[in-house]
Amino acid sequence: MTKILITSALPYVNGVKHLGNLIGSLLPADVHARFRRQVGDEVLFICATDEHGTPAELAALRAGEEIGAFCARQHAIQADIYRRFGLSFDYFGRTSSPQNATLTQHFYRRLDAAGLIDERELQQVWSPVDQRFLPDRYVLGTCPHCGHGEARGDQCDGCGALLDPDELIAPRSALSGDTSLEIRSTRHLFLRQSKLVERLRGWIDQRSDWPAFVVSTAKSWLTAELQDRCITRDLAWGVPVPRAGFESKVFYVWFDAPIGYIAATQEWAAAAVDRDWRRWWWQAKDVRYIQFLGKDNVPFHAVSFPATLLGSGEPWTTVDVIKGFHWLTYEGGKFSTSAQRGVFTDAALEELPADLWRWWLIANAPESADTDFSVQRFVADVNKDLADVFGNLANRIISFSHVAFDGRIPEGGEPSALELELGAEFDQRIVSLRRHHEALEFRAAAAETRAIWRAANAYLQQAAPWTAIKSDRLKAAVATRTGLNLVRLSAVLAWSIIPELSEKVLAAFGRGGVVPDWPIKPCGELLDGDAGNPVAKLAPIVSKISADKTGHLARRFGVA
Ligand code: MF3
Ligand code: ZN
Repeated sequence: MTKILITSALPYVNGVKHLGNLIGSLLPADVHARFRRQVGDEVLFICATDEHGTPAELAALRAGEEIGAFCARQHAIQADIYRRFGLSFDYFGRTSSPQNATLTQHFYRRLDAAGLIDERELQQVWSPVDQRFLPDRYVLGTCPHCGHGEARGDQCDGCGALLDPDELIAPRSALSGDTSLEIRSTRHLFLRQSKLVERLRGWIDQRSDWPAFVVSTAKSWLTAELQDRCITRDLAWGVPVPRAGFESKVFYVWFDAPIGYIAATQEWAAAAVDRDWRRWWWQAKDVRYIQFLGKDNVPFHAVSFPATLLGSGEPWTTVDVIKGFHWLTYEGGKFSTSAQRGVFTDAALEELPADLWRWWLIANAPESADTDFSVQRFVADVNKDLADVFGNLANRIISFSHVAFDGRIPEGGEPSALELELGAEFDQRIVSLRRHHEALEFRAAAAETRAIWRAANAYLQQAAPWTAIKSDRLKAAVATRTGLNLVRLSAVLAWSIIPELSEKVLAAFGRGGVVPDWPIKPCGELLDGDAGNPVAKLAPIVSKISADKTGHLARRFGVA
């Protein structure tokens, strides 16, 4: 049994996430975790809310709520949404946990002992109007690399470069627009990443399974002179810095957030007996660690977090595969939390069952380029794939088995050439589907899943038990038996993507409530099996999205 550690980038706690956040890390991580459980791997799937930093602090301020209470409430809201989306985390923790504070301080001490921490005097932006030091992202200005005029002090959205606020040209406060910004000096800690370049390069060279754009992003970070990173901030909310003179400062959110992957595993372990976080993170050579994240997160996971782990000199698990995603765009523009533009996860669930969203997002995952969400395309795809093909397939043959065979998988008759060919075709399709899942090719996995449903439908069109029953009961029995087994197999194979719909189908076969094992027997045998077993009646599992409903969705979510 292989041990597979899966983490999704930790969603910021400061508000409900949109579909772009969901497909950019959380959902594909879930699909892969489910697939790995199906094939019998030992899986640990960890996520958490990312709770520190200025966005959380300011959101709490806006909500008029104490920051701790705000985070607790928002964490619960997100946890509930993800549960309803079927995200099967083994643990969904919080980076504000005591475990994360302890571990973050531990890493700091190790790095300090290794000579990798520098105390430096920093000139920092002070706003006389706002009466505060401005966090990096609240300083706006022109990017020194590409000239983009709305670059933030932490990162430029124009060219992706990570920035420090004092690099911006013509800076201003994002809070008040204050241009009378002053520079005041304050002391901060720096992680001397520059001393780790060779170790990081050696480490990256040993990673073989990263997508090309992830490797090139990481490499460009190392070939350009790797900047030392400031890992403390003048804020009250965060992990305290255990060092004299730093009582009013905390660690930078990007320093403690990825450590949260480990801390959340410690929280998981603390929540029950017989769980050992070290089996996953400490001298755990038998673990394969896969991270899912959006492309803006690549530098932090390919360079900064590894620098923390390697720099500690301790035997921590480092990532084997980084699966990075491009952006999901929204009706031709950007999803935006601040502008509340796009489909948000809570609203999505108010409108339609989770699996409809899951299906469309995985089938259109922005894997190799940005992909655009539109209400029209969403409705067309979901109606076709889920209602016309998968749902219709399941409901039609199950209800026919009740009309003609007493709600049982019929016995009798021998598979003909048609069924044998189908079995061989399915053997190949299952191999190909498994390969796509293993290679983290989500669109291809969805496409093969769809092809499997279509092949099943095509078989039933051709074998037509509803016609055969009139003249040849045994032939109808074979076709119905094959058809029912095809439906069950289709549900098993789709379970990682559409768990709720699959579960309904599997429950009708008396096989609900468990992780459905990945099929290993030859399909010829599977499709001819289980004769005599009962099949429960099945209410329509997917209803087509009507024109009225489409209009409603377009008004609610579309671009006016
Ligand atoms: N909260 C960050 C984002 O949404 C991701 C943090 S990933 C972590 O971009 F590893 F740092 F936690
Ligand atoms: Zn730029």
